Amino acid sequence: MKKVLVTGANGQLGRCLQVLSNISGDISFLFTDSNQLDIRDKEKLHNYFLENDKIDYVINCAAYTNVENAEKESKDSFLVNAEAVKNVAEVCQKYDTILLHISTDYVFDGNKNTPYTEEDIPNPINEYGKSKLLGEQYIQEIQEKYFIIRTSWLYSQFGKNFYQTIVKKSKTDKKLTITTAEIGTPTNANDLAKFLIEIIKNDNKNYGLYHFSNLGSATWFDFAEEILKILGKRNEISLEKTDNYPTFAERPKYSVLSKKKITGTFNSVILNWKISLKELAN
Ligand SMILES: NC(=O)c1ccc[n+]([C@@H]2O[C@H](COP(=O)([O-])OP(=O)(O)OC[C@H]3O[C@@H](n4cnc5c(N)ncnc54)[C@H](OP(=O)(O)O)[C@@H]3O)[C@@H](O)[C@H]2O)c1
Repeated sequence: MKKVLVTGANGQLGRCLQVLSNISGDISFLFTDSNQLDIRDKEKLHNYFLENDKIDYVINCAAYTNVENAEKESKDSFLVNAEAVKNVAEVCQKYDTILLHISTDYVFDGNKNTPYTEEDIPNPINEYGKSKLLGEQYIQEIQEKYFIIRTSWLYSQFGKNFYQTIVKKSKTDKKLTITTAEIGTPTNANDLAKFLIEIIKNDNKNYGLYHFSNLGSATWFDFAEEILKILGKRNEISLEKTDNYPTFAERPKYSVLSKKKITGTFNSVILNWKISLKELAN
């Protein structure tokens, strides 16, 4: 039986993992939220590892994810996404625990127009992206057995995300104005959770940095349009495009992630974003 600690387990990815834990027979999960285990608290982390000997894997879902607020509270963002990740990497290295850490497409500046590979040089353009990149770098310096998985535009049935926002607005609004200024890939957090569990189940040892998102690309407008189509509300709601939606944080104009490395290394089937969205909505 493998023992897996999930940090930040009440966030959307953590909750997707909780759903799957019921069907992951040979894994025993320790789900902890920010109150039970604050990853900024190094001593608490060490004690937790001592008390729960031996933890085979950590899935680090804990993160400061508010991209807008990170511009104003950059210190808090760095504390969780970088310094606390360093704590997690140190404790994993000490107790020979494999770390599965989630990072982001926002480590890139968006100046490319073809999918970003793991070899592309990151150049984040907002505080959130900068803090997540530093977290990655700490892991790479400290640890040997890690999977850093960059993903993009996560949505699910849990928490506050773009999918949930459009579903909610479709019940009240007759008109929606959505940006076309960014191109990326919506990713079903349930698919990412399945992929993480497969790595553990298969004892995969191909440690390193990977890009995981659903297949295909879209603007936020395309994403909203597809949600409305699936809900059968496309004709009821007027959808307007804008390329000038004001935000505090600058976002990469293009952040599609290449899946070449991940599909070449793992046997996982990755779904097209529209198909996965339909699966969730139905
Ligand atoms: N959401 C996206 O679109 C997206 C895109 C690309 C990458 N990612 C990455 O994917 C991962 C999962 O994201 P998500 O959407 O599941 O995020 P989320 O819903 O915001 O969940 C993050 C969780 O981390 C917890 N947390 C915050 N600070 C913590 C701390 N110091 N110690 C322990 N837990 C702490 C939060 O708990 P509290 O609420 O109690 O603070 C929250 O439950 C993150 O690494 C994120 O950077 C997300």
